[in-house]
Amino acid sequence: MLISKTSAWKNLQEHKTKAEKFSLYQLFSEDPQRAKTLSLQFNDIFLDYSKNLVTSETMALLFNLAKNVDVQIKAKAMFKGEKINLTENRAVLHTALRNIKNIPVELDGQNIMPEILAVRKHMHTFSTQIRNGEWRGFTGKRIKNIINIGIGGSDLGPVMAYEALKAYADKNLIFKFVSNIDSTHLVETTRDLNPEETLFIIASKTFTTEETITNALSARQWLLKKLKDEKAIAHHFVALSTNTEKVKEFGIAESNMFQFWDFVGGRYSLTSAIGLSLMIAIGPDNFDQLLAGFNAMDQHFLKAPIEKNMPIILALLGIWYNNFYAAQTYAILPYEQYLHRFPAYLQQLDMESNGKSVTLNDEWVDYQTGPILWGEPGTNGQHAFYQLIHQGRKMIPCDFIAFIHALNPLGDHHEKLLANVFAQTEALAFGKTKEQLETEHVSTNLLNHKTFLGNRPTNTILIDQLTPFSLGELIALYEHKVFVQGVIWNVDSFDQWGVELGKVLAKNILTELKTKNADLTHDSSTNQLIAKFKTQKPKEELT
Ligand code: F6P
Repeated sequence: MLISKTSAWKNLQEHKTKAEKFSLYQLFSEDPQRAKTLSLQFNDIFLDYSKNLVTSETMALLFNLAKNVDVQIKAKAMFKGEKINLTENRAVLHTALRNIKNIPVELDGQNIMPEILAVRKHMHTFSTQIRNGEWRGFTGKRIKNIINIGIGGSDLGPVMAYEALKAYADKNLIFKFVSNIDSTHLVETTRDLNPEETLFIIASKTFTTEETITNALSARQWLLKKLKDEKAIAHHFVALSTNTEKVKEFGIAESNMFQFWDFVGGRYSLTSAIGLSLMIAIGPDNFDQLLAGFNAMDQHFLKAPIEKNMPIILALLGIWYNNFYAAQTYAILPYEQYLHRFPAYLQQLDMESNGKSVTLNDEWVDYQTGPILWGEPGTNGQHAFYQLIHQGRKMIPCDFIAFIHALNPLGDHHEKLLANVFAQTEALAFGKTKEQLETEHVSTNLLNHKTFLGNRPTNTILIDQLTPFSLGELIALYEHKVFVQGVIWNVDSFDQWGVELGKVLAKNILTELKTKNADLTHDSSTNQLIAKFKTQKPKEELT
């Protein structure tokens, strides 16, 4: 049965008519304990969700929705390795990668932990060799530049986490990330680098992704142009993949390959071998701390009661706005420069996981699923798009993420940064009325323009400090939030069929672009675009 047909859902629909009249100003005035009641501390993470359009009745109905779909039973099934990715018939075991107590996890009757630990040991050894200069380039020079070539989950996780944890990174090494098939990305990234000092990490779960393989082949050419000996490849290329055959075909020795497995989805792969560039940057100990943070949140998610469970609460609030207020988007607003790629990372995590229309029971849904996620670090966003969040017609629930201690304290920058976080959520919640403006003698013609209606929902996630541990917790918080929403919408959060059609069409079109008199049988628009490109391209480039 579709979730929209259940009484738990219908009760929320009914409650929404009451909720239309909620005023955050009133809810706070009536209950001096509200902030305390609607907030939660877990380890070093404090979540204040009191500035949401909810009462205890709303929360009870939302908790009931979660119970109704057995969220935590389903979570346990995932952690235990049940094949919950039905459309691909796969287990979903990214949580085993951060199972730091090494508790056996069985898949098809076999404990997968020894394999996971063996790869991690290989990563430890290799990272240490790069960091201490033991691993040398082909001409004997020390490796200084590390370039991760990958896309989607094989790029966004490593680049986001490297940027987030730059404060902990080895400053003698330079890290770069190439993802786009646009040659500019690779050309600009390698422009001033010496191939003798450069290591390429080719990150691809499938090792068939066109962008990554094209970039990797061009990187190979760039390297060989200078080093002129195929033997150099073994010193300058390593692969992170599940596909040993393809890695070998590319010319990378199995000993230079770091394995992962089908039970790790691309967007959930940061703590697998895909995290190699990060481990080289921050060192194995800090990487272990990251895993410990992930694991702490995993345990909280599994064990905390629904009413005190951070990922579940965030998920339910998201459902409340997405499905009952028709909010189309939500914003992730980290007030931490180091987290500048976090919204982009979460975009893949959330939108590739839950941007679905068919349930696990093969029915078309009649409700909204995954929201559009976007965001930029504060305070930059304030001077760009916050106008619309404050005074536009759309409801945009926001997550504000901030840290109590700065990693680079400088004068009163941090107090100013945090003052902005607190001010923004206050302004969004309570706004400013016409009456208030009148007491300030604002001219009549500007009264409406300067009115802030308020009542705009936000969560504030306040963390002690950005560390490998807290980053692990934070990522896992969102991973599990996405999981819970997927369970409620009953979609397969671990497949991504929606990326396939474009890939297939591009392959056909590529042949047409390269063939002189190709017969174009697309619609008239696509034919016209292809023809226009070809008429402007020098004829000798066509075969
Ligand atoms: O965009 C589709 C996708 O399959 C993502 O899910 C994945 O993270 C990305 O491509 C890269 O895939 P691979 O790691 O296999 O190169």
